[in-house]
Amino acid sequence: MAGLAVNVDHIATLRQARGTNYPDPMAAAVLAELAGADGIVVHLRQDRRHIQDRDVYLLKKTVASKLILEMAATDEMIKIASDVKPNLVTLVPEKREELTTEGGLDIITHKTIVEKAICALHDQGIEVSLFIDPDPHQINQAREINADMIEIHTGAFCDAVDPEKKDHAFSTVIEAAKKAYQLNLGVNAGHGLCYNTIKRFKGLREIDEFSIGHSIISRAALVGMEKAVADMLKLVKEL
Ligand code: PXP
Repeated sequence: MAGLAVNVDHIATLRQARGTNYPDPMAAAVLAELAGADGIVVHLRQDRRHIQDRDVYLLKKTVASKLILEMAATDEMIKIASDVKPNLVTLVPEKREELTTEGGLDIITHKTIVEKAICALHDQGIEVSLFIDPDPHQINQAREINADMIEIHTGAFCDAVDPEKKDHAFSTVIEAAKKAYQLNLGVNAGHGLCYNTIKRFKGLREIDEFSIGHSIISRAALVGMEKAVADMLKLVKEL
């Protein structure tokens, strides 16, 4: 049965919009866990636009399920991860001007940096996932540089409007999940998933966990965090 890791970045986005000390991502994480979330995800961006260092340290102390830290493969972030020791680090690409993570990490072009980051994190006993596009070459490379798992970028599938393009993008995700599974990599998936797109994954056994943020936090603003997480969990557990 697939798991659901809830990304609470956008609780911090609301807080940072006013420079207040509320709402607190830690409170959102507690509610997500009470609703049954299998993990809590935060992305500590280099520009600190939403999650702050303080959030990551607090979450490490309070999260009871598992803490997944998304971060760029920089020395600064590796130092923080080595100190916090999250249950999993997901390495993501990061551009300052982007609205959200656009595209997967190109681990062929950036092989040396990513491999070095994986080694440094493994030395600290931290497992590493790589957020990559559903591309067989990237998956082979993930295996080669000793990643523990990959997270398949589902953005192209979620964003496609034309039904044919959507179907094509979805089959690319499925093929990627199957290939990674065969290579003995753990398989997560995420980006842009909502209460509709998640239903397409029914019957697919290769995906371990879905990482979902924006759609859950958006629903939580209207119906409450526990209900928003429970609604998504029900869909994920029925897959
Ligand atoms: N996975 C990764 C690697 C991400 O960067 C993000 C966005 O922070 C997500 C999953 C969650 O995407 P969304 O907020 O669109 O559900």
